[in-house]
Amino acid sequence: MKALYPGSFDPITNGHIDVIQRITKLYREVIIAVLDNSDKKPFIPKEDRINLIKESLKGMDNITVESFKGLTVEFAKAKGVDVIVRGLRAPSDFEYELEMSQINYFLSDGIDTVFLMTNPKYSFIRSTRVKEVAELGGDVKKLVPEPVFKYLCGKIGLTR
Ligand code: PNS
Repeated sequence: MKALYPGSFDPITNGHIDVIQRITKLYREVIIAVLDNSDKKPFIPKEDRINLIKESLKGMDNITVESFKGLTVEFAKAKGVDVIVRGLRAPSDFEYELEMSQINYFLSDGIDTVFLMTNPKYSFIRSTRVKEVAELGGDVKKLVPEPVFKYLCGKIGLTR
């Protein structure tokens, strides 16, 4: 079976990496779908987000990284995926994810969303928080993969 893992990945975090590693154990093929939200001025440009994901996942098989615009389900259908996968960090994620999985199921005429519970080690990590901490000079080394940390150092001028 083929799985789609969509997200903004602005930037990819250690929580995402953990979920991706677990998806690869469950599904034969995994497509990481990076939302092309260029019109909304992402923190990291789409091309850089894709490259950072590829560098962070070096050596992992059966994964492709692609960007998409528009509806996730349209991309999922075009790619012939069987399921969409999302991570759930906390109960507060549930309401949004429930609604999104239901609209996606409706729109796609039956593509299910499968949820993986985030490893508690990473449940407090979200990209928005990483950006905020990094911009304010905090240490994000343990929150993101090495290539992202180096990128943030270059972008923000972090010294740690
Ligand atoms: O990493 P994120 O920001 O939580 O990912 C959210 C994402 C990209 C999965 C979601 O915003 C999305 O699917 N966007 C594409 C538009 C879409 O299909 N929206 C849901 C139905 S209206």
